[in-house]
Formats: sequence, structure tokens, C-alpha cells
Amino acid sequence: MFKHHDILTVDQFSLADIRTIVTEAEKMRTLVAKKGGSDILKGKIMTALFYEPSSRTFGSFITAMQRLGGGIIPLQGVTYSSVSKGETLHDTVQTFSQYSDVVVIRHPEVGAAAVAAQASTKPVINAGDGVGEHPTQALLDFFTIQHHFHAVSGLTVTMVGDMLNGRTIHSLSKLLSLYPGIRMHFVSPEILKLPAGLSADLKKRGIALREEEELDGMLKSTDVLYVTRVQKERFTDLDVYDKIKTKYIISRKTLEKMKKSAIVMHPLPRVGEILPEIDEDPRAVYLREQMRNGMFVRMALLKLLLTA
Ligand code: NCD
Repeated sequence: MFKHHDILTVDQFSLADIRTIVTEAEKMRTLVAKKGGSDILKGKIMTALFYEPSSRTFGSFITAMQRLGGGIIPLQGVTYSSVSKGETLHDTVQTFSQYSDVVVIRHPEVGAAAVAAQASTKPVINAGDGVGEHPTQALLDFFTIQHHFHAVSGLTVTMVGDMLNGRTIHSLSKLLSLYPGIRMHFVSPEILKLPAGLSADLKKRGIALREEEELDGMLKSTDVLYVTRVQKERFTDLDVYDKIKTKYIISRKTLEKMKKSAIVMHPLPRVGEILPEIDEDPRAVYLREQMRNGMFVRMALLKLLLTA
């Protein structure tokens, strides 16, 4: 089902696929706890080709491959490669698909991972294509929610920040829409609302969704508060960015209005939208479970793509 397949968008996943990934990721959690890793990917090589900055996605893919015994070609800051001499994405990807067994790519343009998949003779994993998608982040976010609450249906998920440019929002909302009974709230300034096509698509799938500018009214009913930063790099006018970047700040006061059973997530990096004063609150999972789950999910995906 997964072997040799690209991972480009969450649209490609069925509920059964997601169950398979979650089951594998749980096994990886146990494996890491018991032994640190294994050698099932010994002899396999992963290229990580990153044309945009990354800490967690890059780092967790690297450690995922290494914990399973595989090797890596880590290319972060692709400016130091032949790309700086004008090489096309096509040629770069062709090259690394000759050397390695899987290519993980992050790129500023929507659709770049799909272009890479055309050029590659090996599976390509989209690690973020501009304002498009970030399917592996959605999987780890889903895994975190599922692990915490066991059942996803019936939950109220409130996403706050940059709905327009946040690729993690785009992927996660589509993935969650596979689960009936889920309620989604999208909270943003007017100019950062969900892309119209995406909200129409979610509504067509029968999702109960609300788009709001104010967060306060949403907090009481929220089970998952998914916070994102305003995506500065997507703005041409930085004055506009400066005006809205701190519209929502999650603090102790915010958490006081939320359920004891809720969780607060963030794909990170945060740039002021969650105050460190809540980091030790048991509901804050962004610096703990959510991050570690990224490693387990990426271990699971690499195993599924590269072994029978
Ligand atoms: C996100 C991304 O790159 O889209 N980060 C991540 O992968 N964990 C979110 C962001 O940069 O705001």
C-alpha cells in the first residue's frame, strides 16, 4: 500500500492508511523506548533536500532514518549546492534519486514536491511546499490528537493564527475532515482566513466549521487548540505583517478559560504567540509529545515506504 509511493498531499490517505501509519508509529514509540532503534533500513539512504529553513522536520527525518539504521544525505541550505549555480529542481532531484532510496523535499513553491516526484525515480516525501501542504506534519498532529484522546470524532479543534498561509493548517484540516462528527473552528484576522477553495471543500465534506476573528468565544468548547505563527515569509508588505503578528497571544489567562482536558498544540517555531509561562501546564504538548511524535511518525513512514 505504501511501498515506493510518494507522499505529496493528505488527500491521498484513506482511513485505513492513517490507521496503518498510527499503528506503525505506536510501534516506533515502543521501539525507541526499549532499544533506541533498529537496523531495518540498513543499506537504505534518505536525501533531505531543504530549500527552506527547518529545524524539527529536518531534524526528525534525519533522526528517524538513523534510528532505523539508514544513511542520510542532509542538504539544508541548498544554496551551498549546485542550485546556487542555477541548477533546476528537476536536475537536482534526478541526481539525488540516483544516490538514495527516498527524497524528502521542502520548497517555497506550491506543487514543488509533485514536480520533484515527476523527476525522481525514488519515492518523494513532501516536507512542506510553500503555502500548499505539509502532510507529514498533519500525520504527526493527528497522531498526537489520537494518542491523547483515543477517539477523534466528536472533538472540537480550534486553529488560530494564519489560516491563509499555514500549510500545516491546510493539511491537518483536510486530514481531520475524514472523521465524521469533528468540529473545526478557524480563528484569524480577516485577511488571513482559510483559502476560499479549502473552506468550500471542507463544507462540502460535511464538516461543521466556523470562521471567526475573535478567539475568546471559542475557548470553552475547545478540545484541541492548534496555534500557528503568522507566516512572515509569505508577506510582501511587512507593515501588514507587523500589524497582525501578535493579534492572538496564548497565555495563562487563555488557559484559564479552557477545559482541563484540552490540549494546546503548535507545529513550531513560535514567535511570541504562545507565552513560555504556559509551557509547564500539562495541557501544553508542543514542546513534548507533539515534537517526539514527529520522529515516531516519520520513522513509521520511512519503514512503510522502504520495506515490503
Ligand atoms: C511549520 C512549517 O514549516 O510549515 N513548521 C514545521 O514544519 N514544524 C510551521 C511554521 O513554519 O510556522
